[in-house]
Parts: sequence; structure tokens; C-alpha cells
Amino acid sequence: MNRRKFLGVSAAGCAATLFSKTRLNALTSAVKQEFQPDYLPFAPGVPPEPYQFPVSFLWGAATAAYQVEGAWKADGKGESIWDRFSHTVGKIKGAATGDVANDSYHRYREDIALAKQLNLASYRFSISWPRIQATGSGPANQRGLDYYKRVLDELHSANIRPLVTMYHWDLPQTLEDKGGWPNRDTAGYFADYADVLVKSLGDRVNAWCIFNEPNIFTWLGYGTGIHAPGRTDWDAFMKATHAVSLAQGHAFRAIKAATPKAEATSAITMADCIPRTNSEADKAATGRYEAFRNYWFLDPALKGEYPRALASDQLLQSMGVRAGDMEITKVPLDYLGINYYQRSVCFAADANGPIQADTQEGDQGPKTENGWEVWPEGFYNLLTKINGVYKPKAIEITENGCAYNDVPDEKGYVPDDRRIAFFRGYLGALGKAHKEGIPIRAYSAWSLMDNYEWAEGYSQRFGLVFVDFRTLKRTVKESGKWYAQLAATGKLS
Ligand code: FCB
Repeated sequence: MNRRKFLGVSAAGCAATLFSKTRLNALTSAVKQEFQPDYLPFAPGVPPEPYQFPVSFLWGAATAAYQVEGAWKADGKGESIWDRFSHTVGKIKGAATGDVANDSYHRYREDIALAKQLNLASYRFSISWPRIQATGSGPANQRGLDYYKRVLDELHSANIRPLVTMYHWDLPQTLEDKGGWPNRDTAGYFADYADVLVKSLGDRVNAWCIFNEPNIFTWLGYGTGIHAPGRTDWDAFMKATHAVSLAQGHAFRAIKAATPKAEATSAITMADCIPRTNSEADKAATGRYEAFRNYWFLDPALKGEYPRALASDQLLQSMGVRAGDMEITKVPLDYLGINYYQRSVCFAADANGPIQADTQEGDQGPKTENGWEVWPEGFYNLLTKINGVYKPKAIEITENGCAYNDVPDEKGYVPDDRRIAFFRGYLGALGKAHKEGIPIRAYSAWSLMDNYEWAEGYSQRFGLVFVDFRTLKRTVKESGKWYAQLAATGKLS
């Protein structure tokens, strides 16, 4: 990359950080704070140690229904909260919608062929609930089920393991109209939906991911209102978290009842949480933030309780926790699913409802084009910590990736060397953790291809494959070729 391009891109990145609130940045305060670097162990840019991952390691990539499928009204699909939200003026950058997105609903064969071309052994995708039950309850829509059967069959014939997410944020709008996730009845509807999925698709699926980032969709959907359904009510946010934990418990049992050998978890987006200063107030804030961000949906499953750093009796009461509920939430998730993007520098603040803590980006590493800091050591630290806390049998990295908006050059190459550098760094951290015995068995890059990035519309490109959103033509980026080589050999160099 030449310097001019680098400066241009950096300026664009800065502008994006200053003027457009990215989702997670939107949770942070704009105040520029002093940063105490005494605990920082990593010099950015240091090349990772070469590492040979085992042959059994699963290299994959991920997508989500609303972000790639399009076909928002096809074959009996109902309206989701993201259809409603993206059709509401002022909610999404550039008024972009997922109505067409990558049109993967019709082009799934081409997309799976791309996954094959990249030598992927695993593909994580999600099922759109309103394709299966248009209004969130009642008999299943056969055409919706048939679509996912075709996708699963195509993956199996390509010898790619499907990792199927049951819920990646597209709640049927009808259920939102009945109160959405803060209404605990939604947990019951979800249990029925999960039952339909395992009974109809369970013969084709061995790995389920029940929820994607429950910590993010409850927070941004019901607390800050940045995401669908756009509510701003901290009480509703916390109630939603409890309904989701109940739903997770129900779904896990539904999976085991129908397909005892299948494995299930949820994907939690975790952060390496560090206090901004050594003050007691910032340290306590870090504990509360971490309790929500990393543990809130795992402790109820694995320990049968909410993390004590945040869960006061008063809070549990306001969330509507009833006697017996924690027996419903308690299920032995088979592995941990971790999405990792950032570390969070935490400080005490009157923010984020009961969390009473705010965060800012680390400001020592370079920034991606959406302003997220590149700091691989944080990934290693997080993995080490989580492994110590839960001692899981297995961990899958269910998402990790970066936004850089490189486009094809005149010869049709997409020279996204910053993405290659990003993956080198983060996979180096992963290799280090793996070498030390942390039982990581799979890695899903986010994303297989550029797609609809929620409230940011089409402004952030995370793909290994470039998508021209006017023509929908797909072009494998240089990072895609690099990743294909890694997936074929397991060799990080
Ligand atoms: C994660 C989401 C995923 C995508 C990436 C960039 O939080 O799970 O859908 O938006 O961020």
C-alpha cells in the first residue's frame, strides 16, 4: 500500500470514528481520557511466531441471515424487526436495507462454492426465524425449511461442516409487537421455534449456536436503541437478558432431546476488559462491565446464577427472575463460542443502565476503518482468562475480523494487505493460546463476504470476498487467497 492511500484511509477512518457512531463505539463516551499504559504488554506490528495448527483444526467463515440473504418477502417469510427498523427513516446509514443484501437466498450455491474455493472446513450461517414462522409462532413454513435444507445439503456435498446459528437478531416483528425479548413469553416462543428447527433440520446439523451475541442485541436493541427494535429502556434491556437466558436453556434441551449427539452453545462477543486507571472506581467498573459483557449469558447456563459483580437482588427482581428460573437457564453448553473484536478500556460512569460503566477504545494500536483498535494481544489475554474461568472442553472462535474498504483495482485484484496483517496478528495470538493448551478447535473469520453491517448499512466491508453491491458480483480478495492457503495447510507464517 502506498503512503497516500494509507493516509487517505486513515483520514477516512478518523472521520468515521468522529462522525459516525459505530455500534460498539456508540456505547462509549466521546471523552478523550488519559490512558495509563503500565499494564500493556504488546508492541503492535511485532510479527507473530510461526505456528502449525493441527490438521483437525476447523478453518471457517461466518455470515448471518439478515446480512446476506435478501429476499425479505420471499416464499412466505414474515417481517422481522430488522426489516421494520431498516425501513424506518433515520435509523441506518445511507437508508440502506437488507431487502436484497447479497441475495444469498438465491445465490447460496455460488457462496458455498466460494467457501469451498477458500478451502473452508466449516461455515457458520444463521436461520431467519420469520422464514420458518412468519409471525413467530404456529406451524412451520415448509418453503422456509426447504431453503435451509438445500443450503445444508449443498454444504454437506462440499464437505463443509455447517455451524448453524438459530438467532442472529432477526426477531419476527409480530413477537416484538407482543413485547419482544423483555416479554418472557418470547422465551417460550423461542423454545417452540428451536424444537421445529431440530426436528426438521437436526438430521443435517451437528453443531448449533443458539444465540449470536445476546449481550449485544439486548443492549443495543432495548437499551441504547441503536439496533432493532430501537427501544431505549434500561429496565426492558435487563428483562430481555433474562428471557434470552431462559430461551437458551429451553433451546439447549430441545436440541438434546431430538439429537443427543449434536453440540450446542451460543456465541458471546467478549472483550479483554481493562481499567482505564488504577482507581478503585475504575476497577469496580471494569468488574461490572466484564460481568455483563463476558459472563452474563454463560454464568446462568454453566453455573446457574448471574455474575455477582453486577447482579444485585434488586436487579434480579427487576429482571423478573422467579424461583426455579435458574434451573431452566442452567445447561451444560458443550463448548464456548467466542466472538472477539476489541478490548475495552473501562471506567466508572453514569452510563448503560445498571452497568454504570462506560468504555473507550484502546488507543495504542492502529485502527481499522470503522475505528476499532487492532490489538492482538487482547485476544490472547481474553482467551487465557476465559479458559481459566470456565475450563471449557472446547472453544470455537465464532467470529473475528476487521473492516477495511479496499476495492478491486483495474486488474480485478483486491489488495487488502491490512486485513492480511490483521489476521496474521490475531491468528498469531490464537496460535500462542493453542500452543499453551487452550482447547481451541475452530476459527470462523467474519466474514465470508462483505455484507450489510446493521446500522452502518453497506459502509463497512468485513469480507474475505468483495461484493459489488450494485451488481452482486463476488471477487475473492487477496486476504481470501491468503486465508485459503492457511486453511489448506494450517500453517501460519
Ligand atoms: C458482530 C456481529 C456480526 C457482524 C460483526 C462485524 O458483532 O455478530 O453480525 O456485524 O459484528
